Amino acid sequence: MFENLKLQPEDKIMALMSLFLADSRKEKIDLGVGVYKNNSGQTPIMSAVKKATTILSNTQKTKSYVGLLGNLGFINKISKLVLDDAVPSDRIIGAQAPGGTGAFHQILLLIRSMGKGQKIWISSPSWPNHAAILNHLGIEFKNYFYFDKETCEVNFPRMISDLDKMSSGDVLLLHGCCHNPTGANLSIEHWIELTKFCEKKNILPLIDLAYQGFGDGIDDDVKGIQYMASKLSELCIGVSCSKNFGLYRERVGASLLLVPDKKNRKLAEDNLKSFNRVTFSFPPDYGASLVDIILGNNDSQNQELIILWENELNKMRNGMLGLRKLLSHSLRLSTNTNRFDFIERHRGMFSLMGLSVEQISKLRSKFGIYMVGDSRINIAGLNKDQIEYFSSSVASVV
Ligand code: LMR
Repeated sequence: MFENLKLQPEDKIMALMSLFLADSRKEKIDLGVGVYKNNSGQTPIMSAVKKATTILSNTQKTKSYVGLLGNLGFINKISKLVLDDAVPSDRIIGAQAPGGTGAFHQILLLIRSMGKGQKIWISSPSWPNHAAILNHLGIEFKNYFYFDKETCEVNFPRMISDLDKMSSGDVLLLHGCCHNPTGANLSIEHWIELTKFCEKKNILPLIDLAYQGFGDGIDDDVKGIQYMASKLSELCIGVSCSKNFGLYRERVGASLLLVPDKKNRKLAEDNLKSFNRVTFSFPPDYGASLVDIILGNNDSQNQELIILWENELNKMRNGMLGLRKLLSHSLRLSTNTNRFDFIERHRGMFSLMGLSVEQISKLRSKFGIYMVGDSRINIAGLNKDQIEYFSSSVASVV
C-alpha cells in the first residue's frame, strides 16, 4: 500500500545539511542550517542550561503528565520575556508547543478553525517551512514584497502597497526580529505603521519569534512586538527557545495569544488545549522546565541563572555582530566594492547575499562553502579564521 504514497518535496535547508555531511573536504564550511556555533565550530550547551539540568534532576519528583497547556510557569515567564508589561497578563493566553514550528502549526490550526477563509500573507522570501506548513494544512496564502534585492534591505513602501490588497480578517505573518532568511529587519517606525495598518484594516498579526536576543538585544528585539501588542486587541505569537536557550533538540516553544476580553480568553484557552490534545496530547516538558528554572522566580539562585543566561546570550550576539563587521570589511577588500556592506547592517544569524544559483553552486563545488539555495548564509557558521577564505572565494565567483 505504501506505493500509493507520493514523494514529498524536499526542504532545502534539510537537504543542504545532508550534502554538507557527505562532503569529506577538510576546508568545507557549513553556512546552512540556523544553528549557532562558537568560534571553535561548536554549539555548546549554555552554562545556565547545564545548571538548570542539575536543579531539575534534583528537584523533579515525577514524570507524570503536566497538562495540555504544558508548564504554566514557563508560559508566564515567556510571556513576560516577550511582552513585558505591554499588556495586562490576563489578556495573554499561552500554551506550550514543541518548538517554534509546533507553535506556528498550532496557531494555524486555531486560525483555520475560525472558518472565515482567512488568507495568510507571508513575506517574500520567508523561512521555507512557513509555506510548507501552510500548504500541508491547506491554508491559502499570498506573498508580500519584503526584501529589495538591489539594496538588500526591506522595501517598506512596496511591502505596504502589497498589504493594501489584504481583506478584513486576513492574517499578516511577520518575523518578530532577525528576519529569516534575509537578515533585513523592520524598524520601530515600520512596526508603528504596521500597527496602524492592522487596526484600520482589521488584520490579525501572527508573529514568528525565533531569535529574541540574537539581533540588537533581548529587550530591543521585541520592542516592535510590544508596541503592536500595546495597541491591538488581538495578536498571535509563536515563540521558539531553540536558539536563544540553545535547546534545539528539546523542542521548546509557546503559542501566545493576545485576547481582548474574558469571553475570548475562555475560547482561546479551550481551543489551544483541544488542538494540543488532538495533535500530540501533552507538550514535551523537559526543555520548558529548564527555561522555567532559568527565568526563575525572585529567589537568589534563580536570579543567578537568569544573569548567567543573559550574559552568555549577549556574548553570542556580540560575537555575531563582530563577525558581521569583519565579514563586510573583508568582502569590501576582496571584491573592491561596497556591494556586501549590508551584512554589517543586517541582524541575527542570517543574511541573504544576493548571489545567483550558479555562484552558489560554484562556491559549493569548488570551495566547499555551503549556503542555502537562495544565498542565505548563517553568520554564526563562520569563524574568524575562515573569513578571508570565504571572502576571497566569493570574490572569485561574483
Ligand atoms: C533555519 O532556518 O535554518 C532554522 O530555523 C532551522 C530550521 O528548522 O529550518
